[in-house]
Amino acid sequence: MRVPEHVAIILDGNGRWAKSKGMPRSYGHMKGCANLESICDDVKDLGIRYFTVYAFSTENWKRSRDEVEGLMKLFRSYLKRCLKIADRNKMQVKVIGDITAFDPDIQESIRVLEDYSSKYNELYFQIALNYGSRDEMIRGIRSLARDVRDGRLNPEIIDEKIFEGYLDTAGVPDPDLLIRTSGELRLSNFLMWQLAYTEFYFTDVPWPDFNRDELVKAIETYNIRDRRYGGVKEE
Ligand code: IPE
Ligand code: IPE
Ligand code: MG
Repeated sequence: MRVPEHVAIILDGNGRWAKSKGMPRSYGHMKGCANLESICDDVKDLGIRYFTVYAFSTENWKRSRDEVEGLMKLFRSYLKRCLKIADRNKMQVKVIGDITAFDPDIQESIRVLEDYSSKYNELYFQIALNYGSRDEMIRGIRSLARDVRDGRLNPEIIDEKIFEGYLDTAGVPDPDLLIRTSGELRLSNFLMWQLAYTEFYFTDVPWPDFNRDELVKAIETYNIRDRRYGGVKEE
């Protein structure tokens, strides 16, 4: 099995999964979070080099106060736990998204985790928190415009490579495979620039039930895809 270099997942369906069991949405998030830990180990084990997950969008603040607070609590404990996951998997962790919206202690945990794990290079793990693709591009363009204004960047030389350098994902290759769990067929503002030539895999399996077998199934499907990048397939 040819393993994609970079796999991205939209972790969706925690709420519906919990509801189907007569449990509160927060239970689904807890199980979803535990599942992220075990999938991370599987990703490492399968030899995937880059792994990106969508855990909280710029739009997710619209949820009830209760749910948002529950998620923040979960992030707090997960970010600490993630130090161990990083050790275990020799994994460098980076948070993408606008983290300035989070409470100072969460921002600090993110900095600690990123600094601590920067020594590892076997797996590169990106967690999208308060991430939105439109927001990422606007923040990038703002900073690019500042560089032009201050004479650090000549607008005539701006190309795709230079623009990419202003995105949160700077230096990370584009995903080869995008997975979205739980049946919705949309991007919900995830990595719109980076997914230009990515293969998409949608499954009805809700995130808390998405296990190693499901991941392997997605990779097997990816393997029979015919990627062309606008060219013609060589026979
Ligand atoms: C994904 O599950 C987790 C987050 C977006 C934080 P959802 O909470 O979106 O679950 P559903 O889609 O409502 O079932
Ligand atoms: C997308 O899921 C965001 C994350 C998984 C973090 P949502 O559940 O928020 O997306 P919509 O609202 O169904 O588009
Ligand atoms: Mg959802």
